Amino acid sequence: MSNNGDEKITRRDFFSLVGWAGIAATMGGSAFSFYKYYFPNVLYESQKVFKIGKPSEYPPGLSERWKKERQIWVVRNERGLYAMISICRHLGCTPNWFSDKKVFLCPCHGSIYDLAGNVLGGPAPRLFWRAAVKIDPVDGQIIVDFNHRQDPDPVSTENGLMVEEASREVEPFFLKG
Ligand code: FES
Repeated sequence: MSNNGDEKITRRDFFSLVGWAGIAATMGGSAFSFYKYYFPNVLYESQKVFKIGKPSEYPPGLSERWKKERQIWVVRNERGLYAMISICRHLGCTPNWFSDKKVFLCPCHGSIYDLAGNVLGGPAPRLFWRAAVKIDPVDGQIIVDFNHRQDPDPVSTENGLMVEEASREVEPFFLKG
């Protein structure tokens, strides 16, 4: 009973309030879980699209700067630059670059690739993928899309499984200049 007699909370009112508060908390929790499911703090997919600095940071030749972290090599030739995915096309091991021989050698079953990603020997059935690249117009950095891959059909030649280089140096898999 209240002091002036115009307000009174009964036991029933109290337990009703507690009940409604519980329902509201449950619904709030569900709504929050729903939100977190559809809008997580970590955007897993975004990790497959990433920046690797400006083109001027890559001198002619091979850069292994992103091999461990992002599974790509960056290659600059006299015409421009491309990002090659450092995954062996046989069973997915990570090949190593041997600068003295100018080849990639896969430690698992011995596949050999040249700097352009062509297969020179071993069981690999296809060339290295190249990832799509473009320049961010705001900061001038290279954006790599790891999921968007170039995978042209190789031709069997006496030198191995090759693809005409000019056909690979096209947008969005090649940055001219
Ligand atoms: S995984 Fe590279 S040769 Fe088998």
